[in-house]
Amino acid sequence: EFEVELDTTGEVLPVPAGRSILSVVREAGVEIESSCEEGTCGTCETVVFEGEPEHRDAVLSDLEREFGDTMMICVSRCRGGRLVLDL
Ligand code: FES
Repeated sequence: EFEVELDTTGEVLPVPAGRSILSVVREAGVEIESSCEEGTCGTCETVVFEGEPEHRDAVLSDLEREFGDTMMICVSRCRGGRLVLDL
């Protein structure tokens, strides 16, 4: 489990094991476009302000993974305790 902080509101949402960031954030009322929800289309790409994403998508290049400033929130997770996202 880790936490996601929404930069616009400062709201902090716990993301339990087995749930995606996308579903947790959506449930909190944030409108997010998605399509594949399998990490392959790139629709849900979200900017990361803080924290280290654990990339599980098939969209980003190795370099983009290394920079870690963007992530696919339908499948990717967090390496540390918290991500601050541009949401
Ligand atoms: Fe397709 Fe996330 S919805 S990569």
